[in-house]
Order: sequence, then C-alpha cells, then structure tokens
Amino acid sequence: MDHWNAIETHPASPIKALFDTNPDRVERLSFEQSGIYFDFSKTHMDSDLLEKFTDLARARDLAGKIEALTTGAIINTSEGRAAEHTAERGIGDETSVHHARLLRSRMQALVHAIDAGALGEIEYIIHLGIGGSALGPELLLEALKLGDEKYETAVISNIDGCALEPVLERFDADKTLIVIASKSFTTAETFLNASSVLGWMREQGVTDPFGKVVALTANPEKALEWGIDESRILPFAETVGGRYSLWSSIGFIAALTLGIEVFDDLLAGAAEMDRHFQSAPLHENIPVIAAFCDQYYSQARGCETRAVFAYDERLRLLPVYLQQLEMESNGKSVTSEGKPLGRHSSPIIWGGVGTDAQHAVFQLLHQGTHLVPTEFLAVKEPGHSLSEEHHRGLLLNCFAQAAALMAGQTSDDGNRNYPGDKPSVTILLDDLDGRKLGALIAFYEHRTFVNAMLLGINPFDQFGVELGKETANALLAGGGTMMDPSTEILKSRAFTA
Ligand code: F6P
Repeated sequence: MDHWNAIETHPASPIKALFDTNPDRVERLSFEQSGIYFDFSKTHMDSDLLEKFTDLARARDLAGKIEALTTGAIINTSEGRAAEHTAERGIGDETSVHHARLLRSRMQALVHAIDAGALGEIEYIIHLGIGGSALGPELLLEALKLGDEKYETAVISNIDGCALEPVLERFDADKTLIVIASKSFTTAETFLNASSVLGWMREQGVTDPFGKVVALTANPEKALEWGIDESRILPFAETVGGRYSLWSSIGFIAALTLGIEVFDDLLAGAAEMDRHFQSAPLHENIPVIAAFCDQYYSQARGCETRAVFAYDERLRLLPVYLQQLEMESNGKSVTSEGKPLGRHSSPIIWGGVGTDAQHAVFQLLHQGTHLVPTEFLAVKEPGHSLSEEHHRGLLLNCFAQAAALMAGQTSDDGNRNYPGDKPSVTILLDDLDGRKLGALIAFYEHRTFVNAMLLGINPFDQFGVELGKETANALLAGGGTMMDPSTEILKSRAFTA
C-alpha cells in the first residue's frame, strides 16, 4: 500500500471519541512557539495518522526539502532559482543573507531620511502595488497600527478608479509620498495608478512629482528607466517571490509608518518560526502538523475549501492575504516534473472575521453538506480600551464555535440536528505585535511549502496568471482579434452608448 493510500483509507474515529480515548490529546496536539499557541486537537489527527503522514514526509524527503529551502538551494525548479524569503529574516545562504541585510540598511536609511524631512513635509503615503506587492504591506498596516502614526496611508491596488479617486480627493498632493511597489516593475494596474497619481500631483501644482516617488522592486533598471532617482529605488532579490515579499523592501510603508523597530520585530519573529521549522522533529513541527491536517482533509475527506476566521478586527485582512499565499502557490495541477498531479492541490481558502461571520456563513459550517476544516485565530490581549466585555465576548464566541462544530447536538427534528465532528484548528496569540505577526505569517508560508512538498508541486511559480493577462492585453490592444461570441457582445454592450 502506498503512503497516500494508507492515509486515504485511515479509519478515523470521530474527534470526540479521540478525546475520550486519549486524555492527554490536547497536550500532544498543541504547541507553543513565539508567543503563539496552536491547538490541532479538534481535528481527526491521531497518532496512527500522524505516523502515516510522517512516513509520507520521509518518503518525500521533507527534511531535505526544508533544508534546501532554508539554505538557498534551487527549489523553484521551473524558474531555475532559489526561494529566499527566509534570507530576508537572516536565515539562508550566507551571501543572500548578507545581501538582504545591505538592502535593508538602505531601506532604513531612506526611512530615517524621510522622517527627517529629506523629501519635504510628508503627511500622506500612497502605496501602489497589487497582489504580493500590496496584500502583505496592507495586512501589516492594518494589524499593527496603533492609531497615532505620523503618516496617513492608503494602499491602492485595483485598476478601478473608485479605489484611487477618494484618496486623491482626501490627500494633499504637496505632502504626499508615492510608493510604487512592483517586483517586475511592469504590472499594468500599478503603472496606470502611478501615472494617474503623478498626473494629479502635476495638476495640483507639485513641481517635481518624481521627486516624491519611492520604488520597491527586484527590477531596479526598469525603475531607473521609468525616471526614478537611484537614491529612492529600494531593490530586493529576484529570488524573493511576490507573495513572500513583505519582508523585503516591499514592506517599506510598514517600516516607515509603524517604525523600523516594529519591522525588525516582524523579521525576528519570522526568523524564530524559521528556526523552529528547520529544527523541530516532524511530529512536533508546527507548520508540518498543520500541513498534515490540510492534506488529510483534502485527500482523505474530499474537502475542497478551508475557512479562516480571524476573531480580531486587526487581522481582518489575513484571510485575503492567505488566499494569495496558498492559492497562488499551490493551485497547480502538475507536479514539479510536469506530470499530472492526479489529486487536489490547494484547497480554496475563504473566510472573514468573527463574530460577524457567525451571523452570516456559519449556518453552512454547522449544518451544510460540505465538510469545511475551519481555522480560528484570536489574540489574548485586546486591541482597544473599551470594556472587558467586548474582548471576553469575542474570545468566548470563538472558542464556543469551535466546540460546537466538534460536539454537535442530536435532535429528532432534522432542522435542529447538528451532526458535529467538524474539525477546526485554533491559533491563539498572546498579543498582536510585530514579533507574533512575523512568526504567524512565517508559519503560514512554511505550511504552504510543506503542503507543496507532500504533493510534489512547485509552490514558487505562478504561470496560471499569464493567460488572463495576455487575453486582457489582446483586448486592450483592440485590433482585429475576435473573441468568442459572448465576449464580443459584452464588449459591444459595455462600450457603445
Ligand atoms: O499576476 C500575479 C502577480 O505576478 C503576483 O504573483 C504578484 O504578487 C503580483 O502579480 C504583482 O506583481 P508585481 O509585484 O511584479 O507588480
């Protein structure tokens, strides 16, 4: 019997029964790292299943793959390069770590210079970028801002002018810094937004708009060509993938707005998780256990989605961030060798915030026909100073949902029957600061990596996005290209009066 077969035919007991037969279940399936408590006990994981996954991981040489990732080996085989996001936090190939450090010093120097007024009086920052060049920075700002920041910020990604226009109406052009974040420095949405912002600055009488532009990119030549002064170009390594880039200069707006110390803490927290990932044995390795659970539900239980609910407004962007991280990394149907995968790759990640989601989508989690492994995130320390009732209510609601999903409740009235045995993972942070957020995001990166290694796919390319871009370019270029009849009619309806 092969390893997958052993997992897929594993005779899983109901979660409640697993608790009954193993009094120390919580201790064995919960872990603490960098001020974050991870509880996997409300899943179907048991020691036998863990063993089967460990066998699969060994057969896949997971330990060797972790080593390869964290030492700068060429792990992104389709693009012939390493994936060096950990080097940004000081873990990896020595030369790359050194290089990342030099680039970070450059970023720090620019942060200090702007703080000291080198670019004139700055009150507003517009960060332009999309995908990995926006989701990470925005998550950091949302999660870690305290409300007393020196700069007012806006992260604009969409080509839809409805995103940018209100910001231009609100900000004072004279006091605005423009940050263009693009690894490739070619992304259409980002550059249309950039030219609109520069146009707005000119209209508002700013004499040298380019003098207020900072570029964050792995393609500094292109930024130079575009007209940005070398002193305001913050490069990062080509080996840092877009969705793994918030640790690099892409995080500039967070370093500038939240402070260099917060950014350093973020990197330090991520490095702690990196070291745990490198050194913990597989059966105690938190990203590895999480990936084992993911694979169990995808492969053995046919779950096509996973839900993530942040019981903390500050983390409301986490599900969206994870959608790119996991779905762009692992939404593949061929193996690293180009062969058909033959099984599900990334689940569809969706989610929202608690308690709001309880009153909207939890019906399906409790009684729907889909089994949805669910992840609950909460933070021990509140992010506000209102009465204790708010936070107590928030946390207890979070724990109650996970408990109810697992326990269920039988009733003769089908409408009121709760089947239970619905799995969840709970992640409880001591508080929300740079260090914990860094460790949390690094946990998700490594979990995504382990999932990919178990499946045998390359998580670091994203060829799937190309066809849509090419098609959009063909439509934008006009000419004679005829599309399918449906698309032609949509075009003519949209663009004729
Ligand atoms: O189209 C997908 C993608 O390439 C993502 O992988 C990336 O994060 C995003 O677009 C933005 O790309 P860039 O940083 O090169 O502008």
